[in-house]
Amino acid sequence: MYSLDQPTVLIDDFKVILCESVYEPSDDTYLLYDTIKNLSLRMSRVAEIGSGTGLLTLALARHNIILATDLNLKAVKCTLKNLKINGLYTNADLICCDSLKPVRENELFDYIIFNPPYIPTDTQEDIAWSGGVGGIEVTEKFLLDSAKRLKKHGKILCVISSNMDLKKLFKFIEKLGFKTAFLSSKKFFFEELHIAILERKSLYNH
Ligand SMILES: C[S@@+](CC[C@H](N)C(=O)[O-])C[C@H]1O[C@@H](n2cnc3c(N)ncnc32)[C@H](O)[C@@H]1O
Repeated sequence: MYSLDQPTVLIDDFKVILCESVYEPSDDTYLLYDTIKNLSLRMSRVAEIGSGTGLLTLALARHNIILATDLNLKAVKCTLKNLKINGLYTNADLICCDSLKPVRENELFDYIIFNPPYIPTDTQEDIAWSGGVGGIEVTEKFLLDSAKRLKKHGKILCVISSNMDLKKLFKFIEKLGFKTAFLSSKKFFFEELHIAILERKSLYNH
């Protein structure tokens, strides 16, 4: 199923194969991974947009049913390999697609998570990290699609970086009808990362 010469790392008790041309777990991945572990989600219907190597999908597939998507076919295959070698493939569906586009309209999720490409770029240089102008173009698309696929009390969990145009992003989120809180934050040499949780504002208007 996988050759021994593929680089593999152990993350907690997950064996994770790293795949060529696929985003490797990094600081942003680990911050979201730790936050997900602390949330201890159980029996939820979850979607991950942009699963990459698949670490976050693995963490969620243990106790939930998850749909993982990625626009990079190599990433989808990598996530699949990692689900299989960790015995978690029965809890996951994988689609190579843009965001959640092919998901049927009445398929709704309790949680939608993503670690989006968020580096500000004028052109799309690499879908793994190019976030477009202000670093928020892809994130805005993921948010818009997620808002359509969330249950009434559903929540979005995503990575936000201080390198993004945060003023514009928070305006967009506000207009979309969501409120944001940070579950965790960590400073790095060149940026500060946050894990944001978004919920519908309408739930609090009573
Ligand atoms: C920053 S990486 C995160 C990967 C992984 N979730 C992690 O945290 O390590 C962003 C991922 O989003 C994927 N991606 C970019 N644009 C996408 C789109 N429009 N639809 C689905 N996936 C996309 C990339 O291929 C990449 O795997």
